[in-house]
Amino acid sequence: MLKRTHKLDEIDDSLIGEKVIINGWIDRMRNLGGIVFSWIRDRYGLVQVVFDPQKAVYEKVKRLSNEYVVAIEGIVRARPEDAKNPKLKSGNVEILAEELEILAEAKTPPIYINREEGNEEIRLRYRYLDLRRSALQRNLIFRHKVAHFIRQYMNSKGFIEIETPYLTKSTPEGARDFLVPSRLKRGSFYALPQSPQIFKQLLMIAGFDRYYQIVRCFRDEDLRADRQPEFTQVDLEMSFADQSDVLNFVSGLVKGLYEKLMDVDVKEIPIVSYSEAMEKYGSDKPDLRFGMQLQDLTCEKFANELSFLAPSEGEALKFIKMESNVSFSRKVLDSYANSAKSKGLRLGWMKKSNDALSGSVAKIFKGLEIDLNLKNDELVILCAGERQAVNKFLGEVRLDVAQKANLVNGKSNKILWVVDFPMFEWNEEEKRYQAQHHPFTMPYLEDLEKYPDDPSKIRAHSYDLIINGWEMGSGSVRIHTKALQEKVFKLIGISENEAKARFGFFLEAFEYGTPPHAGFAIGFDRLIAVMTKSSSLRDVIAFPKTTSGTDLMVDAPSTVSKAQLKELGIKLEVDE
Ligand code: AMO
Repeated sequence: MLKRTHKLDEIDDSLIGEKVIINGWIDRMRNLGGIVFSWIRDRYGLVQVVFDPQKAVYEKVKRLSNEYVVAIEGIVRARPEDAKNPKLKSGNVEILAEELEILAEAKTPPIYINREEGNEEIRLRYRYLDLRRSALQRNLIFRHKVAHFIRQYMNSKGFIEIETPYLTKSTPEGARDFLVPSRLKRGSFYALPQSPQIFKQLLMIAGFDRYYQIVRCFRDEDLRADRQPEFTQVDLEMSFADQSDVLNFVSGLVKGLYEKLMDVDVKEIPIVSYSEAMEKYGSDKPDLRFGMQLQDLTCEKFANELSFLAPSEGEALKFIKMESNVSFSRKVLDSYANSAKSKGLRLGWMKKSNDALSGSVAKIFKGLEIDLNLKNDELVILCAGERQAVNKFLGEVRLDVAQKANLVNGKSNKILWVVDFPMFEWNEEEKRYQAQHHPFTMPYLEDLEKYPDDPSKIRAHSYDLIINGWEMGSGSVRIHTKALQEKVFKLIGISENEAKARFGFFLEAFEYGTPPHAGFAIGFDRLIAVMTKSSSLRDVIAFPKTTSGTDLMVDAPSTVSKAQLKELGIKLEVDE
């Protein structure tokens, strides 16, 4: 085999006149009046090769086709001035082929490698071909660089990478578990970890002080563009640390990443409380790349004149003003109004043009001295009803407007911390409170004392990292005494017996000297997606699953043989 002397990003002006051997795939070919131009691709770049009809090697060219794997020997020469391509590293040169060896033939691929278009399903079925595309190669190489940076950073700060089990027991992160049947203990199951939460806390009890792991997690939940059933976390835990220690550490890591890999100087990362985020943005993961904050309309004075918008006792009337010159058709505004109605809310809109108000609630406001500070051509949407529902609804409108009006296009990264989440949330289906983060989170002790009968009012020492409206990571200060852990289990309806059965080993461990500790986990796939401006996690994972959780290439999940099931002691109830 003609072994390469150069990778394709090494072919440039400095080699003009030299003989080189390159190895790679044929990206495409073009015949220009007898001369054949062929672009050769490898992981590092793309190079133009010229086959001259005068040379003996030309005979072999007829056999070539796209995606053939080839070895080519030739002389590097300058391209004619008008054929130079400044976008390519090798764009000033080409290789005049003298020798060609076909290392592997290729069938015509079912997708275009050098174009973006193509059926998603076929791309996933032939993922190894899809992965030849430069965009995906770039993303995965970038992913590798980020992982490398993170490892270096963590190591330099005294963190130790420790692996935790994949075959384990359920950890309560709120999703369903993937189960693995045991052959040796028939009828019993391992659960794949939703996160290494309990293990990393045990490592703190074991005295490792600072732990991290770039680790696969598994969650059987409904999938979306930002969710995969198996995904990767940068998981960390710190002993003798509190919330500010974790926030400072993770902020430093994120700033370092952006500076080193994106050449972006991230300024101080703002910290916003959960309640402030909900009031101002109607979301616990606000996208700060655009304004349009939710504002309260204080209007006691005009309560009687506001017609259907007038808030009754305990309700709120809030509004958002569109960013400069954003305007919508009647149809869009009506669809917002209908959607509000279906949620038991009242919605109106108004616009100022030529100093006059128009819109569904213009009449109400015309005679009133309520100053919404509307400028000409400015549109405002108002919503009245139960406060939390108004916040949530206007938060959704805010995002929808930003998407429809293309407000985020090209905007830079906006990073923030959201802190002090509620410790508990009501689960309507199960008619009980559940931990909003997870039950190992430290509640505000003063809230616990103040509201012994209302768990909804208790805040948690928990914090999320938000980038461009994506929840990028999550963490908390942990409970480190058995008594408090038991109390929290009780508040979320886990009985003493159940707690003992599920977490007895963990509660016991608390009694052997547990340091105060706190930690965090970054969603690694999401981080890469945001940094590479990818809209789906699929674009940053080598072999992802579809939204229905399948791997189209290997055809998983799939049935197994009767013999396998028998060995595991499993009888199926579904039709085979
Ligand atoms: P949490 O459940 O919030 O916290 O997960 C941490 C981060 O992991 C990412 N993430 C996901 N990414 C892709 N697909 C999914 N299905 C998925 N689910 C979660 C998110 C999320 O912010 N043990 C705690 C962390 C801690 O307290 O230290 C935990 O797992 O970016």
